Amino acid sequence: MAAEQGQWLLMATARSPTNIAVIKYWGKRDEALILPINESISITLDPDHLSATTTVAVSPSFDRDRMWLNGKEISLDGGRFQSCLREIRRRAEDVEDEKKGIHIRKEDWERLHVHIASYNNFPTAAGLASSAAGFACLAFSLAKLMNVKEDCGELSAIARRGSGSACRSLFGGFVKWTMGNVADGSDSTAVQLASEAHWDDLVVIIAVVSSRQKETSSTSGMRESVETSSLLHYRAKEVVPSRILQMEKAISCRDFATFAKLTCADSNQFHAVCLDTSPPIFYMNDTSHRIINLVEKLNQFEGEPQVAYTFDAGPNAVLIAKNRKTASLLLQRLLFYFPPPTGSELTSYLLGDKSILQESG
Ligand code: DP6
Repeated sequence: MAAEQGQWLLMATARSPTNIAVIKYWGKRDEALILPINESISITLDPDHLSATTTVAVSPSFDRDRMWLNGKEISLDGGRFQSCLREIRRRAEDVEDEKKGIHIRKEDWERLHVHIASYNNFPTAAGLASSAAGFACLAFSLAKLMNVKEDCGELSAIARRGSGSACRSLFGGFVKWTMGNVADGSDSTAVQLASEAHWDDLVVIIAVVSSRQKETSSTSGMRESVETSSLLHYRAKEVVPSRILQMEKAISCRDFATFAKLTCADSNQFHAVCLDTSPPIFYMNDTSHRIINLVEKLNQFEGEPQVAYTFDAGPNAVLIAKNRKTASLLLQRLLFYFPPPTGSELTSYLLGDKSILQESG
């Protein structure tokens, strides 16, 4: 390592958006490798609004691996960070920077330490899938720094080791996380079903019902569901496989009515699984239920689905409107029934775009 004598610093930066599942992942068949009990499909949002930006740096002067999240140092002790770092280091290659006179041989990566600084451009505490964006970005930026040659599919299997849903954020547009067959989980990866350009008239609106941190994390919630919910096992075996096929077809044909029916049904079944867990897990609240009613009524009035709703492990609503016209109608209704507190900022934007709508209650 020629540059070992001097003080030098090499950096790489990446940005990854978060993603929203329309067919949910809920339950692991292998906790350590983070392998799912069913396939899932998601939409990756626009990085301009909900994304993580991560800078990773390496220098011989660093005496240990360290990480800062939104400017605050966090522990890297958790097994998930360590397995992402280990997997990337194993694949690291030689790095040459002629200008700086840096030559890192692949074997040097084992003893060089990294510093990681990650920022979310949205409130981390708001329950908006920040770990998906964060781990996708961590895997991608480390791979860039260490000259890892693997493609995004292979990197998705590494991001998955950080947080299951993170693997889907390695791709834009519509993404499927496959089950995989091999024991080490290397083929449980994300694949892009279609780019965002394929169906760019969809509008995603996020209604922030509560910015409080959830009481039951996804990780522990799904573990409890696997252990206690018979509905979860029925869902994984009998329901999701055919839903995945139908959803793939709906996306490929841009069939919004089918897309919306499947999205809403899958969100509702996921929350039914949470209720079927012992003790039951309540992620949605009264406001979430009122938003579901509002969308159901709007769809009934229009004669066919114009808006889909989906809720993750929290009360915030992700609403997907068929087009801009429907989105503006939906926003009007939301503003009427859930007026934001005076002085709050309300913005709306397109796929990838999302409105953060603050509800006063
Ligand atoms: C409800 O990916 O956060 O958002 O793999 O334990 O980190 P871990 O869980 P996580 O779970 C996401 C669950 C979900 C559904 C989904 O995104 O598919």
